[in-house]
Amino acid sequence: MTPEDIDHLAALLKTRSGLILGSDKTYLIESRLAPVARREGFANVSALLTALRSKRDEKLMTVVTDAMTTNETFFFRDKAPFDQFKSDVLPALARARINGDIKIWCAACSTGQEPYSLAMLMDEMRMMYPRVNLDILATDISERCLEKAQAGLYTQFEVQRGLPIQMMVKHFEKIDEMWRISPKIRQSVRYKKLNLLDDLRLIGRQDVVYCRNVLIYFDLETKRKVLEQIANLLPDDGYLFLGAAETVLGITDSFKPMQGMRGLYVKNQNSQSSARPLRVGAA
Ligand SMILES: C[S@@+](CC[C@H](N)C(=O)[O-])C[C@H]1O[C@@H](n2cnc3c(N)ncnc32)[C@H](O)[C@@H]1O
Repeated sequence: MTPEDIDHLAALLKTRSGLILGSDKTYLIESRLAPVARREGFANVSALLTALRSKRDEKLMTVVTDAMTTNETFFFRDKAPFDQFKSDVLPALARARINGDIKIWCAACSTGQEPYSLAMLMDEMRMMYPRVNLDILATDISERCLEKAQAGLYTQFEVQRGLPIQMMVKHFEKIDEMWRISPKIRQSVRYKKLNLLDDLRLIGRQDVVYCRNVLIYFDLETKRKVLEQIANLLPDDGYLFLGAAETVLGITDSFKPMQGMRGLYVKNQNSQSSARPLRVGAA
């Protein structure tokens, strides 16, 4: 593959998904795009990249962008974001939301393990919070991931990663070599395709946003734009969860870290940024 092919691909990915190609780019391109090249009938990755440069093929650009995303995820990833939800976030919001409606948005849900972890957690907490109605919206740019998430079908390896055994027994059924999540849990998550680079106002007000392990792939300016758009969707008492390697510090002052809660952020009421608080109940 030529430097021009790589530059063209890098520009395409940055515009379409925000992804910045790192230093291991040749290896990454080769390993991610070889299966795409085969499937789409190209002799090799170089031929695929040349075609990408020479004609504006919308379908090819979408397939290539999707293939270049990193979709690593697992149930109850990092544990803390789910423990903190249970110990602090849910009790606080259950007290504050008189009608019991709490909206959660998993902003880069990959194959669904993150939203399903929250749905299973809520099922466990149901007796303590009989009036709470958790509305979980899960979005991702990758149609391939969303299809898998919606199917709720996981391999033995996937259900063994992070999922407590009693939850696996309670919420999964073995179908041949795969494990299928129960209809009850599956139906408690709504999926939608969404690019975080787009206008996020259509998502509407959210009480809690999980935007985990996706900002790491973006440049500073894109991180700032996404975070400030998220801040605009949250009411003053809303919460933001980021991944273990992510932060708002040095990027935006719309959020501040919650004391003693790694990865959990609240809105910074003294923010000078463009974030405008939404009224609770606003659509
Ligand atoms: C590493 S996964 C993180 C999954 C989950 N949040 C977690 O922490 O386990 C990153 C996800 O971000 C998605 N993604 C990448 N760029 C995106 C964009 N511009 N808009 C929406 N989703 C994006 C990818 O498709 C991928 O599924």
